[in-house]
Amino acid sequence: MPREVVVIIGSPHKGRTLEIVNKLEQSLKEIDNISFEYVFLRDVDLKQCRGCGVCLERGEEFCPLKDDRTDIFMKMMHADGVIFATPVYSLQVTALLKNLLDRLAYVFHRPCFFHKTFMPVVTQGVYGAEGVLKYLDEVAHFWGFKTCPGLGLTVAWDKPLPSEQQKNEREINEAARRFYNSLTNQADPVPSIKDVLIFRSVRAIHSLAAGLSRDHRYYKEQGWLEADYYYPTKLAWYKKIVGRWAEKQALKQALQTQKEKNLQLAGTKLS
Ligand SMILES: Cc1cc2nc3c(=O)[nH]c(=O)nc-3n(C[C@H](O)[C@H](O)[C@H](O)COP(=O)(O)O)c2cc1C
Repeated sequence: MPREVVVIIGSPHKGRTLEIVNKLEQSLKEIDNISFEYVFLRDVDLKQCRGCGVCLERGEEFCPLKDDRTDIFMKMMHADGVIFATPVYSLQVTALLKNLLDRLAYVFHRPCFFHKTFMPVVTQGVYGAEGVLKYLDEVAHFWGFKTCPGLGLTVAWDKPLPSEQQKNEREINEAARRFYNSLTNQADPVPSIKDVLIFRSVRAIHSLAAGLSRDHRYYKEQGWLEADYYYPTKLAWYKKIVGRWAEKQALKQALQTQKEKNLQLAGTKLS
């Protein structure tokens, strides 16, 4: 079975970013039999996030917007690897891609893309790709992906300049190799101290929430309320200590917040 890669194209037109991704696809196909599926955000029905927060609190299935969001999510869930490709527009990802990130923001609460490789591809005219690569890498990391250093290229506006071509081709081939190595590497990344801190603090908060909380149920179903991390891994002793400390602090803070909320509620009822 060929490995499956889904590419989400954030550009609002079929321009330089697509051209670069097509080259990356060619380069990967020279390494191995890999299937590519493209999702053009400009062509799908993906409505603007309304910020109601229903997906975060009650669950994504209660989102009032009925469109292609679940299809896109399922494509990502079924793939071995995911690429987000975007030009830099005003120092950020395009609005199309940002909207997808917002529509999938519930994944920050309930990460689910473990064991899958993610790589960002970012094109720029002059400046901004580095920041956007870092941003997308961080988003994907929070979502559970195994992230692979991205491909950031400076490109001419309409068609490649001869001086750009050679350098970019070399970088595209290197990125294809990196992505392939990550796709074929079965090992999960070793969590950093920051990863452990975040996992333990967040799960402390969810552990307090009643059974009605969507995140609490998700953490329980995944076995995360008792686990050392999202997936089985051997944690160094000092990371375990830091994790326990973070959990205690988060619990203290969460209890304090709960107390404040209860007082607020009692005040509302009295007045
Ligand atoms: C609305 C808009 C905003 C842009 N903002 C930036 C920017 O902040 N920094 C930059 O280096 N290039 C910027 N560019 C240039 C694009 O990043 C660059 O041309 C890119 O290769 C275009 O890819 P595309 O053909 O897929 O749209 C901008 C282009 C447009 C149309």
